[in-house]
Amino acid sequence: MAVIRILTQPLHRWVWGNAGRRAHKLLSFAETEADGGRDLARAAEMTPDPLLRRLFLFHANDELRHAELFRRRGAALLHTLSSPSRPYYRADWLAPGERGLDDLRVGEIRDDALLAFLHLSEKSAAMAFTSYRDVLRQDPLTRAVFEEVLRDEAFHMNYTLSQLSRVSPRRHRLLLWRARFGRLWKGYLRLAMALAGVMSGIVLTILYFTVLAPFALAAKRAERLESSGWSPVPPERNGRLDRQY
Ligand SMILES: [Fe+2]
Ligand SMILES: [Fe+2]
Repeated sequence: MAVIRILTQPLHRWVWGNAGRRAHKLLSFAETEADGGRDLARAAEMTPDPLLRRLFLFHANDELRHAELFRRRGAALLHTLSSPSRPYYRADWLAPGERGLDDLRVGEIRDDALLAFLHLSEKSAAMAFTSYRDVLRQDPLTRAVFEEVLRDEAFHMNYTLSQLSRVSPRRHRLLLWRARFGRLWKGYLRLAMALAGVMSGIVLTILYFTVLAPFALAAKRAERLESSGWSPVPPERNGRLDRQY
């Protein structure tokens, strides 16, 4: 994991190096955190386990606080920009937020599967936020936001694992592997869809230049001839007319 962090540092330095992009990233993180908070509040409503209910509510509260921290810092950064900020390509896959690229479907999964999902996403969020914090030496205020958020993420990561072992002592390893496989599968599907998009773009461009462009040129030529008031006589008809007269 340390190797991956070192290898991805130049990329994170590029993503976080620009103040405008940094502001937009923080604002998008605020949305993800608020979304996570709402999902956890819903999970607290639905669980029959009183301890999990308390923990999910506590967790939901943390995520809503993170949303506020990211939103305030993102807005403050936007105000410091001298020129109006243009919308940046969000590129979530380059620097994902708390839930990474995954969607949480509360209500469709059991508490133990939910805990396995949460544990993995909190763990990857903690790793991602550590990388972002490390490349933010030139912006101590944003760095401090990540440091504060990271303290809570460590707690989220630990309680989800200990609760998973409590509610599902025999299946917790299996559930973690299933959740890992689910993340990998979703990642593969996303990659395959992105590749399919690129390939269909290439095929359509080739078709345009090899099939449609000659037709378009022929249509333009015919239109020009029509507007000039006459149309050329085909050679065989021309021969027939010569023989007649
Ligand atoms: Fe969070
Ligand atoms: Fe979290």
